[in-house]
Amino acid sequence: MATLTRRIGLSLGADLCWPRCFEELLARLDPKIPIGDDWLRFESERVTIEPFDLEQPVAYDLIIDRLTHWYGPTREWIKKAVLLDGAYVFNNPWSVQAMEKQTSYCAMMRLGFAIPRTWLIPPKEYEEEPDLAVTLERYARFFDLEEIGERVGYPCFMKPYDGGGWVGVSRIEEAQALREAYDASGKRVMHLQRAVEGWDRFVRCIGIGPQVKYVRYDPEAPLHERYREDAADEFLSPEDQRELADAALTINTFFGWDFNSSEYLRAQGVWHPIDFANPCPDSQATSLHVHFPWLVKAKLRWALYILASGRSMRPCLDWEPYFAIADEDRPQREKLAAYGRLARERLDEARFEEFCDRHLAHLDEVAWEYFGTDSARDAVRAKVEALFPTHEHETFTDHFWAAIQRWRDRDAAERAGR
Ligand SMILES: Nc1ncnc2c1ncn2[C@@H]1O[C@H](COP(=O)(O)OP(=O)(O)OP(=O)(O)O)[C@@H](O)[C@H]1O
Ligand SMILES: [Mg+2]
Repeated sequence: MATLTRRIGLSLGADLCWPRCFEELLARLDPKIPIGDDWLRFESERVTIEPFDLEQPVAYDLIIDRLTHWYGPTREWIKKAVLLDGAYVFNNPWSVQAMEKQTSYCAMMRLGFAIPRTWLIPPKEYEEEPDLAVTLERYARFFDLEEIGERVGYPCFMKPYDGGGWVGVSRIEEAQALREAYDASGKRVMHLQRAVEGWDRFVRCIGIGPQVKYVRYDPEAPLHERYREDAADEFLSPEDQRELADAALTINTFFGWDFNSSEYLRAQGVWHPIDFANPCPDSQATSLHVHFPWLVKAKLRWALYILASGRSMRPCLDWEPYFAIADEDRPQREKLAAYGRLARERLDEARFEEFCDRHLAHLDEVAWEYFGTDSARDAVRAKVEALFPTHEHETFTDHFWAAIQRWRDRDAAERAGR
């Protein structure tokens, strides 16, 4: 039997903690998987940024990418790697580039999701361009912002049509504040979106392949405490969990994202997705804390499955099957379940689970041990040092480390109960 090596490239920016944990966990696990007459082994390496010949082969079978949404040279290298070298990348760079929040709202409205009423407003100011003045003179209509405010309804949120990280987001209660927010929006293209009021649950779903993690979210809390610690069963019924997983996997597969996080508010029993174009989701121990080990394990499982199964990347998105379901005359919950089935098929859910049971059964134990080591603590500390002032390094390392130890306690108890 020959031993073949499959290589993972980590395309990273400011990421510090999760790649270190991912690399270390892979080394400790060191899986050897029999495929046909061969054994597969796995290595990971960090992708460097340098000039490249379009004909120069890429050394990676799989790339986990965190740069495409803002760093063009790596995005273009990745596109070349997919087209010319057959690499699998998560996430699909064309889809990351093209699908802004605006597109994601339109697409999920088309699938019948309860998106709050949203208007797109042309920008207050413009970058100079040769044809701009003549275009606007001919075609731009004066509009009455206050009338749009009335039509959207108050309270509402003004936020960039392509936003992230809460930049430029404001909650607006009345016309005067609306005018001020628009005046302050400068060259950005903004949405005005009706606020979901009276919500009783705010949930972020992190999806990695067919795996979904439900995290309770508290937008009022300081940044490092917005993700709450509650286990899913403490704040979601099994029906709610199923509905959210159907929604999250539908969104992720519709856009061809292996990896994304989506946000939902539940008001009067209806789940409203409000923000779900996050195809490079927050992956840091400093925000995910107790949920962080799940993320590292889930990324590792999905990466190993892709490499061992030979799953090929879907370069085209193929929306017709979703639209065919959307056009059926059935209740929305049934349509959502049908989208969910389609999504799970596209994500090989059954084959993935069988693979994990057969080949990665020891990952839980290895991860539990690893997340108790000094090396894991150093990875958390490295991220804390990058984000917090010096006098807080000790306190916050202890804080996040304690959360990860609570995860270990929970994890050990759950595994003992199985
Ligand atoms: N329609 C809405 N109803 C209620 N709350 C909203 C709505 N839109 C936005 N918010 C609030 O504003 C916050 C930021 O909005 P949103 O998530 O759309 O922006 P973002 O910049 O993409 O944020 P991030 O990247 O951190 O998720 C949300 O977490 C939520 O608390
Ligand atoms: Mg958000």
